[in-house]
Amino acid sequence: MANVTVVGAQWGDEGKGKIVDWLASRADVVVRFQGGHNAGHTLVVGEKVYKLSLLPSGIVTGTLSIIGNGVVLDPWALKAEIEKLESQGVVINTENFSIAENCPLILPMHRDLDALRETAAGAGKIGTTGRGIGPAYEDKVGRRAIRVCDLAHLDSLDAQLDRLCAHHDALRAGFGQPAVDREALIAELKEIAPFVLQFAEPVWKRLNTVKKAGARVLFEGAQGVLLDVDHGTYPFVTSSNTVSGTAASGSGMGPSSAGFVLGIVKAYTTRVGSGPFPTELEDEVGQRLGERGHEFGTVTGRKRRCGWFDAVLVRQSCAISGVTGIALTKLDVLDGFEKVKICTGYRLRGKVLDYYPSHAADQAAVEPIYEEMDGWQGTTAGARSWADLPAQAIKYIQRVQELIETPVALVSTSPEREDTILVRDPFID
Ligand code: GDP
Ligand code: IMO
Ligand code: MG
Repeated sequence: MANVTVVGAQWGDEGKGKIVDWLASRADVVVRFQGGHNAGHTLVVGEKVYKLSLLPSGIVTGTLSIIGNGVVLDPWALKAEIEKLESQGVVINTENFSIAENCPLILPMHRDLDALRETAAGAGKIGTTGRGIGPAYEDKVGRRAIRVCDLAHLDSLDAQLDRLCAHHDALRAGFGQPAVDREALIAELKEIAPFVLQFAEPVWKRLNTVKKAGARVLFEGAQGVLLDVDHGTYPFVTSSNTVSGTAASGSGMGPSSAGFVLGIVKAYTTRVGSGPFPTELEDEVGQRLGERGHEFGTVTGRKRRCGWFDAVLVRQSCAISGVTGIALTKLDVLDGFEKVKICTGYRLRGKVLDYYPSHAADQAAVEPIYEEMDGWQGTTAGARSWADLPAQAIKYIQRVQELIETPVALVSTSPEREDTILVRDPFID
């Protein structure tokens, strides 16, 4: 099947949005299947810059864009994002956008709890985006969530609210906070409900219909495999499964729908928030990567931590997520470095490892083993064909694909949509 599933293969911010936007014109549908508005995807089209958190990146090209059931949805953030994009000339209506009616909602109490926990954790905090993502997923799994479909039945929500508020009020009391104001919550939900409900539908059914018609589906992952709640650097992770397999459960399509799994891989490494990061550079090289790559978070504006490319981590992500091919992004950020380094293994208490262990203490203790290569003179910035790349940059790409045991399908050389080199078309392969 000619579907493509895009996942981040590092700690997020690999450039998924740019690649999804570039691929969207070849797709019939773009589907978000996990995460929420903790994501921040930046798209650059000519003079225009679009920042998307909750909406699928296909919306900018007008491609049918769907929020699947695996996403946690903040109705107020949704409205604000739609209004912002509309002010930039993007057309969003019930023809080109829909939301799964079984999507759990992020409510103000989730944001409160996220903030209360982070503040209480002090130096041990996760460094979340503060959007209430974790608490909303907890309520989903705890069978207490209010979902999009409940917005059509707000007058008969008492029993559900009893369950939800009993849980939250106990937690809030522990933090010295007042109980949830149920009347205010219902009033806020009543106000926002019609806006959300106009887009709500059984998404699984729509996808089943388009599948039968032979449509090409592009699944857009958020975050990255190293932030996956099972496979990531636990507990410094997000609260959803970010791996490609979630495309099926988070949309209501079967597991064979994933198609070509395109791992998005930054040519170096970044991380925002707390947690281990073996190749982190806290020196002027890291500073230079951050400045050249404009590494500031789209959602929170936080400075992203930067380091050399870690082939061990990416090889592991590609294996876990079944990556068919990668899009290597931000190669241009490495332009002009005299030497570039790649991490090819770890040393842990005298032993050499070819994988990243699960225990937090081991993750923090590993020391990277580096391979050094000459950098390239000349520029890759804006290159649109293989022939435009300096020979040494091609060597770097080849070494990366060898070490991660996964072929390169695309190379991105600037934020601009068209500055992309196609090596192997994921929709055809
Ligand atoms: P996402 O979360 O994976 O969608 O990535 P973000 O949008 O948060 O971060 C990637 C940033 O890098 C954005 O500002 C993009 O505009 C930018 N970007 C994407 N691809 C490239 C590239 O190839 N070169 C450069 N210089 N910037 C890029
Ligand atoms: P995109 O889609 C980078 C990180 C947060 C924090 C951890 C948990 O733009 O790649 P959460 O708010 O999800 O509970 O925070 O996950 N995080 C991201 N880091 N890119 C993202 O999304 C992220 N979404 C969450 O910084 O460390
Ligand atoms: Mg991002």
